[in-house]
Amino acid sequence: MPKPIFVLNGPNLNLLGVREPTVYGSETLDDVRLRTEARARTMGLAVDFRQTNSEGELVGWIQEAREKADGIILNAGAYTHTSVAILDALSAAERPVIELHLSNVFRREAFRHHSYVSPAAQGLICGFGPKGYEIAVEAMADLLAKGASKAT
Ligand code: DQA
Repeated sequence: MPKPIFVLNGPNLNLLGVREPTVYGSETLDDVRLRTEARARTMGLAVDFRQTNSEGELVGWIQEAREKADGIILNAGAYTHTSVAILDALSAAERPVIELHLSNVFRREAFRHHSYVSPAAQGLICGFGPKGYEIAVEAMADLLAKGASKAT
């Protein structure tokens, strides 16, 4: 029985549309959710799209994915650059992980160039704005079709 893909969003992503629109664009997180769900439907996948400002809640959702999801698409926001707890949770999840960022973090401040998510991720998509969520769904569909069960 296929399970949904968890599409997890970290801190401040609830402010999409009003937050630094020159960096993150004008779409709201709800707009991004709708386009992600629409793309997933065309691929025959279900998504469970969530956002939290809490690191602990994000860790809890990644733990939940072990049982309840076939894969994880994660935009961990600023926790990407700080959270060993998220890396540990992803490493334990035994699910394919795609790291996602709206902005091209490598064109930005040096502190955004390091990611604690990347070592646990199959791949990284960044710099394409909301379109990146659709690209991530497509990439996840390919991974699942190939039978990927974890990030290694
Ligand atoms: C982000 C990039 C992070 O560096 C930043 O802290 C965010 C958003 C992105 O989607 O571009 O909150 O993950």
